[in-house]
Amino acid sequence: MRVAIAYLSYSGNTEETAELIQNKLNFRGVSVEMHRIGIDPPIYPANYDVVFLGTFTWANGSTPDEVKDFVLEIGYKPTNIAVFGTGDTQFGYFCGAVDKLVNFYGCRWPGLKIEQSPRGSQERLIDIWLKGVMQHDKRIA
Ligand SMILES: Cc1cc2nc3c(=O)[nH]c(=O)nc-3n(C[C@H](O)[C@H](O)[C@H](O)COP(=O)(O)O)c2cc1C
Repeated sequence: MRVAIAYLSYSGNTEETAELIQNKLNFRGVSVEMHRIGIDPPIYPANYDVVFLGTFTWANGSTPDEVKDFVLEIGYKPTNIAVFGTGDTQFGYFCGAVDKLVNFYGCRWPGLKIEQSPRGSQERLIDIWLKGVMQHDKRIA
């Protein structure tokens, strides 16, 4: 079982979410490769059973350029992408980048949307979402 978590984070919220997902998978005995978008060398989605892709949302619900570059770098639409992200409901389109990526990839799983920091009550949203992803892949159940 191979899992990667690729994420982009400026102020830490998406990174915290990525780390919580990593910890929860580790707890289930799944080892995870962390990939910092725009910093680490390219990844090859075909080498993984699931690639978790995490992003914040930028102005007017847009996807950050680094994430767009990551998508272009991959160059095709893998079927094993699970999208998560953080945003702020005060902005026009909450977690717009998550919706855009889910639509683009035609993901099997719905996107996970977290408001700012995932710590506290929203951690439960991660548990429920992760369970849904895992049910699709019995190897991480
Ligand atoms: C200039 C600016 C524009 C933003 N626009 C949006 C937006 O349109 N939709 C949204 O949900 N969040 C928006 N946000 C909020 C960020 O996505 C949110 O704070 C996110 O958690 C930051 O992630 P990070 O801590 O991983 O960098 C915006 C934040 C900034 C600074």
